[in-house]
Amino acid sequence: MDHRIQELYGISIPIIQAGMAGGPAGAELAAAVSEAGGLGTIGAGYSEPAGIVELIQVVQQQTSKPFAVNLFLPEEKVPFSEESYTTMINKLNQLRRRMGLRENTILSLPEFTFEDQVYAALNAGCKHFSFTFGAPSPSIMNELRKQGATVMATATSLNEAVLLEKAGVDAIAAQGSEAGGHRGTFIGYPLTELTGMAELVSHITSRVSIPVAAAGGIMDGRGVADAMAQGAAGVILGTAYLTAEESGASAVHKQMLLKGDAPTKLTKSFSGKYARGIQTSLMDELDEMSDILPYPVQHYLTVDIRKTGALQHQPEMTSMWAGQGYSLCQPVLAGELTRNLWLEAVRIAGCC
Ligand SMILES: Cc1cc2nc3c(=O)[nH]c(=O)nc-3n(C[C@H](O)[C@H](O)[C@H](O)COP(=O)(O)O)c2cc1C
Repeated sequence: MDHRIQELYGISIPIIQAGMAGGPAGAELAAAVSEAGGLGTIGAGYSEPAGIVELIQVVQQQTSKPFAVNLFLPEEKVPFSEESYTTMINKLNQLRRRMGLRENTILSLPEFTFEDQVYAALNAGCKHFSFTFGAPSPSIMNELRKQGATVMATATSLNEAVLLEKAGVDAIAAQGSEAGGHRGTFIGYPLTELTGMAELVSHITSRVSIPVAAAGGIMDGRGVADAMAQGAAGVILGTAYLTAEESGASAVHKQMLLKGDAPTKLTKSFSGKYARGIQTSLMDELDEMSDILPYPVQHYLTVDIRKTGALQHQPEMTSMWAGQGYSLCQPVLAGELTRNLWLEAVRIAGCC
């Protein structure tokens, strides 16, 4: 049994709730998981700095236990043609008309930077960071080190894990192909980096010396025990927490997860970056287009449609990220889920 994830974070249960940006992983969910002994994570990838400070303050009011903030490494800008932009705008406006929404032709991107987000979280007292889509720059790593903060980053391949270890991160989130949400791939092409969680964990743990937390398709104590038997020092669960009472996932998203009968699919039609979610007609309709714009342009152009789709309770008009194990989702309390996952894993493994 590898206790390094518990030691790194000062937690009693090596279960990490994934930072899920865009609403699902807010302060209530993070606080409940941390309070139960796991590591709750605020999904702050899309949040403005002031919003991050507020979320951290709410967690700090609800628990004195460790928690983390999850952020996205910025992407290099990918150019796109005016023609593709116009084609996409026309398509999205067709959808808006169907939903009774006002048409839109303007792209509004956020004005804050990744650095603004990191400093806001640091200044608000965050001690644990997790990142996806790459490795933090040496200057950010130095600043985080100076402030005594820990860093975990996502790898979807052995190459990425080796690079992250060289960059000086404390732990690796090994994201298997089963995982819900965005692929964290930052070297190579996401659709060719689709190693399943068990194999990925065993590859990575055999080559890197820092602790590895397994992510992707873990839904119960059996999954936790299996991942740890592969050499993981901890596990990361996203999908299983989406149907927790404290999760900020939309009602329609929760309902579709609990229904559990549709396939999941990797798509870049909502954000411009591959992500796994419950297959819907909108996803298929957009996937047929060759003019999907790069991340984050596609994300910000579709966000009003997806938010309204969720509010209007229209599953086919919103994104519902989910991992391949989602049919095991249950309505739960996040703290209870955390404790039960660990009790069951310990019983199965007969250790710890
Ligand atoms: C709804 C949802 C949103 C997600 N958002 C993020 C995110 O903001 N940052 C991140 O690093 N990972 C994100 N992920 C991926 C998780 O970190 C993790 O890899 C994944 O949830 C593990 O697989 P599972 O969903 O099968 O448990 C998200 C996953 C889901 C399901």
